[in-house]
This record gives sequence, structure tokens and C-alpha cells, in this order.
Amino acid sequence: MTSPEYQIAHLMNGTVDKTKMYADMDQSKAYAEGRPRYTDDMFKVIVDYCIETNRKLDLVVDVGCGPGMSTIGFAKYFQKCIGVDVSETQIACAPKDIPNCEFKVGYLHQLPFIKTGSVDLFCSGESFHLMQQKDQTQRTLICRTFAEADRVLKPGGTLAIFGYDWLIVENPEVNSIIYGILQYYPKESTQIVDKFRTLELPYPGWIRNDELKMSVKTNADKHGDFLNSLWAARAYKNDHPDEDLVENAKRQITEVLEKQGNGMEFTVNWNLFILMGHKPM
Ligand SMILES: C[S@@+](CC[C@H](N)C(=O)[O-])C[C@H]1O[C@@H](n2cnc3c(N)ncnc32)[C@H](O)[C@@H]1O
Repeated sequence: MTSPEYQIAHLMNGTVDKTKMYADMDQSKAYAEGRPRYTDDMFKVIVDYCIETNRKLDLVVDVGCGPGMSTIGFAKYFQKCIGVDVSETQIACAPKDIPNCEFKVGYLHQLPFIKTGSVDLFCSGESFHLMQQKDQTQRTLICRTFAEADRVLKPGGTLAIFGYDWLIVENPEVNSIIYGILQYYPKESTQIVDKFRTLELPYPGWIRNDELKMSVKTNADKHGDFLNSLWAARAYKNDHPDEDLVENAKRQITEVLEKQGNGMEFTVNWNLFILMGHKPM
């Protein structure tokens, strides 16, 4: 059988402005409601790695933070958390009631409001595939985000790239309904699906952790928010304004679950990945 990574890569196109993929208020609301919450274990693994070289946890900067689910889990460990995202609608949907968390609109490779050498953790959750990674010749890896991370990090500070791969629904019939949506992704999203296997962090001795998982029990309605948060669903709607892909998927899922007769809930699993490196002292 062909691997899911291959099938997904084969279906994707490459013509999307990645800074505008999450710029729609309905999609951002669905993102805030429907995307999975990273586990406490994941935040703890990253924090434990940070304190190997730097026990003071003053500031984390989370770039491509979306509505903040990759930022807020650090709030109990760091004095201050700043989430940055290019999308005004994503930032508008971030929580406003966590005193040590602040969210700003901005580009992840350009952070004029962050002082040089002031950051203990610079991270990117589920967003690094949307960042410029190659120069115009497409040959040299000169990631502007890495350069900005290196500028703002303290010596001994941590760079972390994390996220989750494509979901697997434990119910195969429901799973295949959701796979129909994949063809509308830009091809860079395959980096998420293969968990950045070919990405090298710029710091010697960097490590990766592929041990952790995330799981949610959900139903067709709640899963509709997750699907509506996906770029692929929005792109499909642009191309097919008269069709409602997500409502159709919800209806099909409901029909399958009713026919199976084992209840209306199903479990969705993701594999988490974390790449982490310390800026040399
Ligand atoms: C898939 S979301 C990830 C959100 C969140 N960090 C999470 O873990 O769920 C990717 C986010 O990256 C943002 N983004 C894309 N390009 C960006 C750029 N150049 N600068 C800042 N944010 C960017 C998008 O607006 C989007 O909110």
C-alpha cells in the first residue's frame, strides 16, 4: 500500500500565499474551538530541555502562534509569553485573560519589538512549514526565521519546533471521509506530515522527540470545527462556492456511525514531534 506521506505529497499543490492561509474570522474561530490542545507532557518536555542550559525562564516567544494553543501551555513556567502571528483574525481569537501572555500581529522572521539576546525559548508550533526556508535559488538553506531566532535568543536559550502530523481516526470508515480533503494543501505541508525528517536545526547537538501522542474523543459536530479550521477546507470552498465540504463530511460521518451502531463518538489520534536545540553559550 502507498504510504500516507506519498499520497498526501502527490495531492498537494504549491501556489498558496502562506501568510494568508489563516486570515478569515470564521476559520480562526473554528481553529480556536476545534484544534487539539497540546498535552502538558509536551510543554514539560520542552521546558525540561530549556533548563538543561538555562534555569531562568523569563521569556518565551512563540511564532506562528495562531489563537495561542502553542503559547499558553508555557504560561505556568515562564515569567512572560509572547505569541506572534501574521494573521489578525488568529490573534483576535487568542485568549485575553492570561496575565503573563501577550499576543501580537507580526512576521515571524522580523520581531522588532523583541530585544536582542532577551529570549529563553523561541518556538514554532505547527507553523514552521509556512516559513521561508530557502533563498531564491532554492538551493541554500538560509532560513530567515532561524536568523531572527538566533538574534533574540540568549546564549544557552532554546529553539524548538513542534507540532502534530496528519490525524488518524480510529474508525477507518470515518478516517477515509476526512482524507478526501487533503488535495487542497500546499505541498510544503508534507513537512508536517513527515514531521520535518529532513530539517536540520542550526545548533550542534540538537535533538528530536517523537515519543508523545495526542488523542481526543469527539463527534461529527465537534469535528466539524476541526475540519473548518483546516486550510484545505477553506481552499475547497473558494474553488466550489456552492458546495459545503465540511457539512457533507459531517453528514457522511453521522450516517456511518449510525449504521455501525456503536455510538456517535470516535477517537482521533495525532503523533507529536519536537525538534529542540540550544544556542551555544
Ligand atoms: C497551522 S497554524 C499554527 C497555530 C498554532 N501555533 C498551533 O500550534 O496550532 C500556522 C500559523 O502560522 C501563521 N503564519 C504563517 N506565516 C507566517 C509568518 N510569515 N509570520 C507569522 N505567522 C505566520 C498563520 O497565520 C497561522 O496562524
